[in-house]
Amino acid sequence: MNKKIAVLPGDGIGPEIIEQAVNVLKAIEKKYNHQFEYHYGLIGATAIDKTGNPYPDETHELCLSSDAILFGAIGDPKYDNDPSAKVRPEQGLLKMRSNLGLYANIRPVKSYDILLDASPLKNDRIKGADFIVVRELISGIYFGKPRGRSEDQTIAYDTCVYTKDEILRITEKAFQFAQHRKKKVTLLDKANVLATSRLWRETVVEYAKQFPDIELECNYIDSAAMEVITKPTKFDVILTENLFGDIISDEASVITGSLGMLPSASIGAKIALYEPIHGSYPQAAGKNIANPMATILSAALLLEYSFGLLEESRAIVAAVDKAMQEGFVTEDINNGKCSTSQVGDKIVEFINSI
Ligand code: IPM
Ligand code: MN
Repeated sequence: MNKKIAVLPGDGIGPEIIEQAVNVLKAIEKKYNHQFEYHYGLIGATAIDKTGNPYPDETHELCLSSDAILFGAIGDPKYDNDPSAKVRPEQGLLKMRSNLGLYANIRPVKSYDILLDASPLKNDRIKGADFIVVRELISGIYFGKPRGRSEDQTIAYDTCVYTKDEILRITEKAFQFAQHRKKKVTLLDKANVLATSRLWRETVVEYAKQFPDIELECNYIDSAAMEVITKPTKFDVILTENLFGDIISDEASVITGSLGMLPSASIGAKIALYEPIHGSYPQAAGKNIANPMATILSAALLLEYSFGLLEESRAIVAAVDKAMQEGFVTEDINNGKCSTSQVGDKIVEFINSI
């Protein structure tokens, strides 16, 4: 198979973890006889430094002309401490999601037996947890208009808007995933208070009627925030809007024990982007200590979702599992002793020998 991959390392630890994921993809190419081309682009603080724009037009063109996008991380503390900064790295991410139409954000969460003790949650609660969060990514309060401040600066407002079509297309995705999983969708909303949530609930309940084999549950986001860490095994596919999905997916990451393990996919009608859910971890940048597994697992999702290469994707997941089992892990996991590149090298070695 011949494919073009846009590679956007971004900020902080982005370049280091991306390097390992690309090495892993190269090992897959060799072993399974594929040809992937890697084209690098700028995004985030690095892009602001070089071009003044956190998502330059060239990067957008590169993404549009590629078959999939592999992305590292965005964010730099020099902007976090400056609330008056006009251009912020995060704007690049939001612009990219919106301009590429990446409406479905998929965040798989599972507990690894070897990491049970790394989670602050009780083992018996989280053992066996395995679900995905399907988060709407390009609408809702993140993008709704009007937004801003009153002239005297004493009032601020954001607007949450959803159309039925926006809800339907993400609902369709959630049901497709449920079809291949445990056949359960849980919609999280605040339909007791919000008009947008009532439209979500009405639309999803109506849509679900076509799929009698899929169980639909509708929960309020506040009580689900409790259940996601007290009864995580009850979930299979969580379907929710942009802001609720942002919050619940960070909360759910506690189940896994390390943020450094969680990959994600952002899927649009034409193209999809793959990235670890953690941030740019600036304190670790350049030190070769960050966990590359989430990015490597994101590359596995890329092969499965964008290229349909299931066997290749499973080989990566198996190699990551083996590295964990055998203790080839970075310091965030059970005080691991390996560096970023040692973990990457081991995973490549395991792919070659599986
Ligand atoms: C995420 C991040 C982003 C979001 C930020 C960096 C804009 O938290 O991908 O979850 O809020 O969507
Ligand atoms: Mn977030």
